Amino acid sequence: MKRIFSGVQPTGNLHLGNYLGAIRNFVALQHDYDSIYCVVDLHAITVWQDPAELAAHTRQVTAAYLAAGVDPERCIIFNQSRVTAHSELAWIFNCVARIGWLNRMTQFKEKAGKHKENASAGLYVYPALMAADILAYKATHVPVGEDQKQHLEFARNVAQKFNHDYGREVFPVPDPIIMGSAARVMSLRDGTKKMSKSEPSDMTRINMTDDADTIANKLKRATTDTGTLPGPDVLDESGELPETARKERPECYNLLSIYAALADLSWREVLTQFEGQGFAAFKGALTELAVEKLGPIGSEMQRLTNDPAEIDRILKRGGERAAEIANPVLNEAMDAVGFLRG
Ligand code: AMP
Ligand code: TRP
Repeated sequence: MKRIFSGVQPTGNLHLGNYLGAIRNFVALQHDYDSIYCVVDLHAITVWQDPAELAAHTRQVTAAYLAAGVDPERCIIFNQSRVTAHSELAWIFNCVARIGWLNRMTQFKEKAGKHKENASAGLYVYPALMAADILAYKATHVPVGEDQKQHLEFARNVAQKFNHDYGREVFPVPDPIIMGSAARVMSLRDGTKKMSKSEPSDMTRINMTDDADTIANKLKRATTDTGTLPGPDVLDESGELPETARKERPECYNLLSIYAALADLSWREVLTQFEGQGFAAFKGALTELAVEKLGPIGSEMQRLTNDPAEIDRILKRGGERAAEIANPVLNEAMDAVGFLRG
């Protein structure tokens, strides 16, 4: 059986990177996989979250899943803290994973910044909890944006080490699914930084709930260079954009990759369409496309968040269905470890 698990943190400001790198792919994959999509509230509190806002943001991510087209009948949608197996399995994995593995995690270094001593202990062991999320369901595939590749590798190592140490094939080794040209959407203001929820300036990102005027304004003021748009001759033989080209004009290729992803075009198609044009015309076309694709999702999110009872009902039911899968797997792991139960 092929099973997907993925999650998004309820930390506010859901943006185009979350949509193109993750949520849109959840919708596409739900038809081919048994799919479990989580709102990872336990992960969110690794950095401080105001309690009232955490609850609102948990509903907001749920609304984004639903508005984008994740079907709660077909898939399981729930918030992580409802299913205690995640925390329990994470503890076992804290004891399987090595400190050396954690020390290599670039996201911890980025998020902890200069004040490492003052970061929460949870932020440090975050990848062990993520491994527990995935493996509690014996998920085989994990759709994520490119920034999560290293955490996925960590989860693979945990699965292998657990199976090896305890001499039982309890966990499958999960594969990442990293889809499309926009698996890494960059900031609108600096094409070398990823678009992020935590960036203080809202002008760096397009939020899933932005209205048409806001999208137009942000794209108009997005950083570009002084050239015109390149043609398909920059591509390599396999039709991919070489890293060297992207490095030379990061903002330009970021906007083009957003266009390609939203319009479902290949690099070749998008570069052929806009070759030689100036940024003003291209930004106009991109604005129109972004408004067309995001507008309906944003307004549906708005409508859904006005009815929190319906969202809460979906999360509760999802949590019950999730626990039915996760609890037996947790039992199997505890049994392998040698914990007395029953
Ligand atoms: P997070 O906001 O960190 O909970 O991320 C939720 C999902 O969105 C993960 O699969 C990330 O890999 C993906 N994601 C976050 N930021 C970006 C980005 N700038 N570009 C592409 N994917 C992203
Ligand atoms: N760490 C992921 C992020 O920040 C969110 C996440 C938590 C996740 N648990 C997961 C993603 C399990 C995939 C699978 O984007």
